[in-house]
Amino acid sequence: MKESFDVPLVEDAKYYEVDKSYKDNARTRDYKKTYREFLKAPDVFWEKIAGELEWFRKWDRVKEWNYPYAKWFVNAQCNITVNCLDRHVNDSRRNKVALIWRGDDEEERIFTYQKLYHEVMRFANGLKKLGVRKGDRVCIYMPIIPEQLIAMLACARIGAVHSVVFGGFGVGALNMRIQDAAAKVVVTADISVRRGKSISLKAIVDEAIINAPSVERVIVLIRDKEQPVELHKEIEIDYDELIADVPSECPAEVMDAEDPLFILYTSGSTGAPKGIVHTCAGYMVGTYYTTLHVFDLKDNDVYWCTADPGWITGHSYIVYGPFCAGATVVIAESTPDYPDPGSYWKLVQDLGVTIFYTAPTAIRMFMKVGEKWPNAYDLRSLRILGSVGEPLNPEAFEWYYEMIGKKKCPIVDTWWQTETGMQMVTTMIGEPMRPGFAGKAIPGVVADVVDKDGKPVKPGTGGFLVMREPWPAMLRTVYKNDERYRKYWETIKDCYTAGDLAVKGKDGYIMVIGRADDIIIVSGHNIGTAEVESALVSHKAVAEAAVIGKPDPMKGNSIKAFVILRVGHTPSDKLTSDLIYHVRMTLGPIAMPHEIEFVDKLPKTRSGKIMRRVLKAKELGIDPGDISTLED
Ligand code: PRX
Repeated sequence: MKESFDVPLVEDAKYYEVDKSYKDNARTRDYKKTYREFLKAPDVFWEKIAGELEWFRKWDRVKEWNYPYAKWFVNAQCNITVNCLDRHVNDSRRNKVALIWRGDDEEERIFTYQKLYHEVMRFANGLKKLGVRKGDRVCIYMPIIPEQLIAMLACARIGAVHSVVFGGFGVGALNMRIQDAAAKVVVTADISVRRGKSISLKAIVDEAIINAPSVERVIVLIRDKEQPVELHKEIEIDYDELIADVPSECPAEVMDAEDPLFILYTSGSTGAPKGIVHTCAGYMVGTYYTTLHVFDLKDNDVYWCTADPGWITGHSYIVYGPFCAGATVVIAESTPDYPDPGSYWKLVQDLGVTIFYTAPTAIRMFMKVGEKWPNAYDLRSLRILGSVGEPLNPEAFEWYYEMIGKKKCPIVDTWWQTETGMQMVTTMIGEPMRPGFAGKAIPGVVADVVDKDGKPVKPGTGGFLVMREPWPAMLRTVYKNDERYRKYWETIKDCYTAGDLAVKGKDGYIMVIGRADDIIIVSGHNIGTAEVESALVSHKAVAEAAVIGKPDPMKGNSIKAFVILRVGHTPSDKLTSDLIYHVRMTLGPIAMPHEIEFVDKLPKTRSGKIMRRVLKAKELGIDPGDISTLED
């Protein structure tokens, strides 16, 4: 990891006050007081929240911290779907709208809690019919449609461990994830729809399971009824046929608090993505609490998070947190600029969205196309705005605040990770906001900015963002790679190291600057340099490759690749586009290099490690820092 870096001037950032009515009505009315109470008795704090949920058996102890391993709600038994569904159906929310889906062509599907409950149980019975049992891994590779969420909840219902793979990933990325988790079943759809065009997901699955012997069955939801895909009946089964004659009751599997709930892959600094493992009880309590308190969710809110359920944001803040909290959730298989850049604002207007959670990259895209788009719609229903995935730069904050929130809505810039499972650092509703700063640790979390020895840095000095205490929704391990898990807690003594660089202001507000390792955040998506490099090297013309992130005004970062060709291949525009296409097919469009430069040599350490930092400094015309280990 880096030891020093430039820090922007932090103390001149101004505060934005939030209308008093927000604070008066907030679930966490007094941040400071609540935080103090939490610090005084952390277990009491979490126990109180857990007590709002339903359990088959309550815990013996709130937590057991055996550094670096944590258990939360020790010996408790639960099933997250009981809190997502049964709890509401048995109560006054039976007929409340749980889910509104909007298609690319504005088709709409609406599920009440009652209907969602039955759909989940039917698919759960379908999975059981195929022999899926507690602990089996199920890979879900689907577009943003209700069945994607139903499949996740159905797995949780029967204790199967889902591994959702973002529907935009390519063959290589999907294959690797299926193999690593040894998934028994893959759930997919024939197509996804984007900008009016169909993309065949099933064709990608067909290829991705070729050398994945663990896969016994593939469930295919057929959306295109006019030209239905042909299924290979030995292995593939039609989603609708599977659930045609199953009962619509399926008892929830009794899960131990620490049984795995899901695996979700995230980029690592080596070639292989890491399967982050989350467990049942702590994750449930953490996402439930943050949904209620960070978004200050009320029963009549219409909540829209624009992420894909295939990312952690979707897991925690489309599915598990909001359903546990009984929210009305909106999902849309749509693109922010299709059919025009007003599509999101039209949806906000049509459905009366009150809480809107998106990524800075989308906000910057909206800034670029101008305020005529949001101004064409009635956005008065909006109450709270959120941001996640990368730093929300002050210009984007101001635009979001003025043009979308009309200087009324608080913005929660939420810092967290796949690994943290839940939101960790933000500005709680009612507290003054500071553009450029995510905010402070929420009650329940102890965050700090430290040097490499774990000592807090002085205000205004850069350091590493760490957590000093375990929290309920924290990752429990990296699937089949516990050593990698321990690294999170062993890199800096007694702390969980997030891998982000940050600065703390005198007021304690935290500004997150970016990654400290070889991960590039492109449009809010985590891309490992090593993963792109190995995709490039798998092309027959490439001998070696190094990838860096370059600042990009829209996407946050763009990917530039330096490539050494094998003998017999020469640089050309055709080869450049072939290589870009190759990465696209292997990993998916999000990982595509924006630029490729052919070189004869790459800067390396004497031990042969590529020094990407040197490439980056040269590219950006800045000082490369210490290059004493450079080979040549
Ligand atoms: O670098 C941080 C950035 O996204 C990383 C986590 O990515 P992922 O696991 O894909 O989860 C994204 C959604 C939670 C972090 O290490 N990041 C996330 N949120 C913010 C952020 N950087 C700055 N500000 C944020 N609000």
